[in-house]
Amino acid sequence: MDQTEAKNQIDALRTQLNHYNYHYYVLDNPTVSDFEYDQKMQELIRLEEQFPELRTEDSPSMRVGGEPLDAFEKVQHEIPMLSLGNAFSEDDLRDFDRRVREGLEIENVNYVCELKIDGLAVSLRYENGRFTQGATRGDGQTGEDITHNLKTIRSIPLRIDETDTIEVRGEAFMPQKSFIHLNEKKEENGEEPFANPRNAAAGSLRQLDPKIAAKRNLDIFLYAVGQWEAGTLSSHSERLKYLKELGFKTNPETKRCDGIEEVIDYVNSWVEKRPNLNYDIDGIVIKVDRLDYQEQLGYTAKSPRWAIAYKFPAEEVVTKLFDIELSVGRTGVVTPTALLEPVKVAGTTVQRASLHNEDLIQEKDIRIGDTVVIKKAGDIIPEVVRVLVDQRTEEQQPFRMPTECPSCGSELVRLEEEVALRCINPSCPAQLKEGLIHFVSRNAMNIDGLGEKVIQQLFEADYVHTISDLYRLEKDKLLELERMGEKSVDNLLRAIENSKENSLERLLFGLGIRYVGSKAARTLAEHFEEIDQLINASFDDFVAVDEIGEKMADSIVRYFSEQQVLELIDELQGLGLNMSYKGPKKSDQPEDSPFMNKTIVLTGKLEIYSRQDAKQQIEALGGKVTGSVSKKTDLLIAGADAGSKYDKAKQLDITIWDEQQLKEALESRG
Ligand code: IVH
Repeated sequence: MDQTEAKNQIDALRTQLNHYNYHYYVLDNPTVSDFEYDQKMQELIRLEEQFPELRTEDSPSMRVGGEPLDAFEKVQHEIPMLSLGNAFSEDDLRDFDRRVREGLEIENVNYVCELKIDGLAVSLRYENGRFTQGATRGDGQTGEDITHNLKTIRSIPLRIDETDTIEVRGEAFMPQKSFIHLNEKKEENGEEPFANPRNAAAGSLRQLDPKIAAKRNLDIFLYAVGQWEAGTLSSHSERLKYLKELGFKTNPETKRCDGIEEVIDYVNSWVEKRPNLNYDIDGIVIKVDRLDYQEQLGYTAKSPRWAIAYKFPAEEVVTKLFDIELSVGRTGVVTPTALLEPVKVAGTTVQRASLHNEDLIQEKDIRIGDTVVIKKAGDIIPEVVRVLVDQRTEEQQPFRMPTECPSCGSELVRLEEEVALRCINPSCPAQLKEGLIHFVSRNAMNIDGLGEKVIQQLFEADYVHTISDLYRLEKDKLLELERMGEKSVDNLLRAIENSKENSLERLLFGLGIRYVGSKAARTLAEHFEEIDQLINASFDDFVAVDEIGEKMADSIVRYFSEQQVLELIDELQGLGLNMSYKGPKKSDQPEDSPFMNKTIVLTGKLEIYSRQDAKQQIEALGGKVTGSVSKKTDLLIAGADAGSKYDKAKQLDITIWDEQQLKEALESRG
């Protein structure tokens, strides 16, 4: 056989196999026997071995052929992968609808309702019609490249008929049957079973060797489009239809609903139908259908205003509370945790539940030895709902919090207006350990391989006491620790070394300054750019920054006035940690922009610009575009037929421009 002939045969086999595959895995409707499929696959593999120059990455034979990786590469999401706000009742849904209608100034909205699949959000990128990269959601900004594992999911097409670059998003999951089968096998082999299908799916996709994922029978439903410059469709439902046409698996239960009452009917119908599905869902996702409406509504810091997740009511179960454990957190707060007889709730076994603080224990009158009702709030976090008082005997005595720190023994204090008890000893070992766990965590320095167990080991071996000790760890010493092989030590040291290059906001968040969350850390880093600028800044400098309030400003000033903190920063700098902001800088933007630091609202019909375009241009010039008019609004751009936002702006005496004025302002910055 010559090469041309081989190429023709290979092409024909690939087309056939892709077709079979699509019918089997996407449509759930096989068109050939397994035998026939396997024969064709073997034939393809044989030809590709004979003519290696004809191998391509998107061949159906390549699904399991990949070599194990050494480590996961990080993937930056061009468009962040956000999460959703939650609704727990019909009232919450009606509130959501009201906010949407008010934001849009319209009477009735069409929504798309989708099952909320309980799996793992992933992003799939296609370039020139080929599947080129698959990634996890990660922290929403940065995920991990798991292309090798996603390729093993047969319902993910390796080729699509769309030449423009398109990134699609969806939920990878493990069907219940595969989960049961997998756990049976694990138990047969004496291995620890997975707690639920979600963990099993996550565990499978977080493997360096694709052969493992290939055996796990994962599946996927696609429900969103991320980056797609060339996209022209105007509603979410049209996009879903298009995804389906391209050969992606979309969920067949999705429904377009006219108004919130129809949504509520849909939601209620699934409370009953839910157990009949062969995959886990934890709620219903409700999305505004029209994309221009979505754009108009925009986003809060964490989630879109045009979508919400309805969470099914939590399952309640009864168990025994046999003890209350006390732990000391990063900021010295002593938290009581209920230790429970293990019970299964909403898919996982629960044996601990936070009791938060002394007040809550008193309020619910929780005592050691009680029989209690527990549930998982939002189906995730276990909590004690109430005590079954009639099951109580004389033995159960009211619980009292200790007066001394369970870690270092210093006297605990209750700060004014706080419900929490605190240990205020700055050298308390428990606090230092928790601080370190926070420092290496995903949104902070993001050091892989430094989980709680390893940190515990490092503490016990006396290798670390402070953050800076992490950067002084030595290979020989680490090798002496239990369960630490050459490879994991190398990986760990590399991850620690790499973290030195992190942009300032990660360090800032990692330091654990009170009230400074990851978002505020980013705002501060972006604004001050260098750690020295932050150290030297005054209370007034901080409150002058948008989104930094007085409480936070006060806390930052106090933090940087501590001698110990300044010494720590000096040490870290000496160890080679980057102390500068590396992201896009405000100073790169023209200073004389009329939009700089202004809050702007767009309303009415724009004719010169699309809303997206206007928004992007304004943002590029330092402005912030929001969805509704308030006292904080600096400028309203009113297109044709502007409605209540216009009236409100007038009332509040806010500057109003028409689109022509916007155009002039934008063009003068050209
Ligand atoms: S839409 C900005 N649709 O739920 C919109 N999410 O809390 C983002 N999920 O991270 C997501 N099924 O992992 C969407 N039909 C669905 C979903 C879904 C499951 C998950 C997803 C996301 C989380 C949102």
